[in-house]
Amino acid sequence: MSYDLKLRVWRGDSSGGELDDYVVDAEEGEVILDVLHRLQATQAGDLAIRWNCKAGKCGSCSAEINGRPRLMCMTRLSDFEPDETITITPMRTFPVIRDLVTDVSFNYEKAREVPAFAPAEPDADGKRRMMQEDVERGQEFRKCIECFLCQDVCHVVRDHEENKPAYAGPRFFLRYAELDMHPLDTNDRRNLAQEAAGLGMCNITKCCTEVCPEGIKITDNAIIPMKERVVDRKYDPVVWLGNKIFRRGQGPERDEV
Ligand code: SF4
Ligand code: SF4
Ligand code: FES
Repeated sequence: MSYDLKLRVWRGDSSGGELDDYVVDAEEGEVILDVLHRLQATQAGDLAIRWNCKAGKCGSCSAEINGRPRLMCMTRLSDFEPDETITITPMRTFPVIRDLVTDVSFNYEKAREVPAFAPAEPDADGKRRMMQEDVERGQEFRKCIECFLCQDVCHVVRDHEENKPAYAGPRFFLRYAELDMHPLDTNDRRNLAQEAAGLGMCNITKCCTEVCPEGIKITDNAIIPMKERVVDRKYDPVVWLGNKIFRRGQGPERDEV
């Protein structure tokens, strides 16, 4: 059954823009990306949208639908009333390139700041071994499709451009946690996560977990354990003594955890 769907779509570029109203044919069972493609084909040929897989796996069709960060290809029209006006806007945390397409290079810069996996020497037989539970923990983290919806929703940077240089965001706290908890990795990333990546600025609101399309428990399984590991290190008496000796004269340590 087809019906007229009312859409309000943000149109513009880095210099500014506005919400434009459209009425588009919609079919039962379609997703937001379907109707935007029909809008492009019939009324707004120059509408900019980023997408690739249409299967919730490439992470490129992120936008805000009625103000909530979501994948356009995984948002069904049946989530809304048929007579409701659906508003689609670009992710607010990142600069707009055009229409619904944002520049997410902030995330690639933060990714480059995470030191690479540095595995320990293999066992005498040339193999590396780890427990199955460690494998499974890492698998949850590696489901990330880099849609950056968690980065978009995080209030530390959402309306605070000034926090971006000192804050990596939930997607990268996930990466720090994955590597720091990896039994074969030799880097200690706790200080880096706390001091350079701004882990202490996260106040565990769990908004990132709520929008993750992969259902990754970002806060419970990555951020909170990582904060606990930072605390363990900070209050380890040997580390404490080392910090006192080597950091004397460099000002107070940051305390937020
Ligand atoms: S839990 Fe932390 S990282 Fe996640 S949205 Fe809240 S402040 Fe941001
Ligand atoms: S953690 Fe989830 S919300 Fe964040 S980028 Fe990965 S898949 Fe997207
Ligand atoms: S188009 Fe790939 S996740 Fe939506």
